[in-house]
Amino acid sequence: MKMNKGTSFGRRDFFKGACLAGFMVATARLPAVAGGTFEVGKRGAHSRLATSYAIVDIGLETPFSVLHISDTHLADAYPDEHPDKVAAAAKRTNGFGGRQEEALAESLEWARHNVDYVIHTGDLIDFQSRANLDLVRKYWGDAMFGSVGNHEFYSYLKTDGKGRGEEYKKKSWGLLKAAYPVNPRFASRIVNGVNFIAIDDVFGAVQPDQVEQFKAETKKGLPMVLCMHVPFFTPHIALAAHKFWGRTGKKFAGRPDAARPLKEGSNLWYQRNDPTTSGFIAYLKEEKLLKAILSGHEHITMEERFSPTAVQYLVGGNFLFAARELLFV
Ligand SMILES: [Fe+2]
Repeated sequence: MKMNKGTSFGRRDFFKGACLAGFMVATARLPAVAGGTFEVGKRGAHSRLATSYAIVDIGLETPFSVLHISDTHLADAYPDEHPDKVAAAAKRTNGFGGRQEEALAESLEWARHNVDYVIHTGDLIDFQSRANLDLVRKYWGDAMFGSVGNHEFYSYLKTDGKGRGEEYKKKSWGLLKAAYPVNPRFASRIVNGVNFIAIDDVFGAVQPDQVEQFKAETKKGLPMVLCMHVPFFTPHIALAAHKFWGRTGKKFAGRPDAARPLKEGSNLWYQRNDPTTSGFIAYLKEEKLLKAILSGHEHITMEERFSPTAVQYLVGGNFLFAARELLFV
């Protein structure tokens, strides 16, 4: 895989500075980890990943491929960590099926052989613990890029609760910046002339500084892909997500209202409707450089058109071995 410049660079150079544009690094540099396969008759060993495909057609001179994963929900704690975290690890590992690390390892091993880059759109960890952050360091690697999720901000200390605002997030920035190779608030990476932007929108809102930085990035004139944890409201994604989470009832039978698209601004949807977030969405719908949005959070694989130039792609929970391969052509 050729980068748009042939310069060599180290991890330190690559990630220093909060919001510097840089490169995603080819998957050849991912750490090799053992990934499980199973035999499928004469077809031989297959990955357990359930991979769907999408083409992002933006007329590139050099096409490339990305594995998009999200919502791994690693849920580990060392025995000497706070009892709340040890208890959460047992409960949440069980709650997600207990194969989260296996699924991540397998995704990355598959990526190493089959795609050029990996993007993770958050909830890589289920809660903050030394064990989980060690797993971030072990697996994230130079080749990965992406955003954090709401779970990256949860301590799972009973005394902390689960806040949903900027104040609540403040106590986590230092920890996340130290553990993640990407600035969790705003980051940009340019690959073959495509500008990947990762932002934190984990509680359904963006902040003025992020909007300002995004608009500054548009001045580069490159096609842009927005990576963020919580999807923007689009009616059919909202409907499917509500169906998946059982908010419409397990079936639509007897609930005719559930089959109608949910309205933006409904308190049933995670996205906030403060002026900054609403203004950003309205602006993005007109922004012709925006070519795709990659997100997760809802644990379903689905896509829906967001604007005349961009489709929003959600990928299902990586803990369920879900992944999506995106071909940028
Ligand atoms: Fe989430």
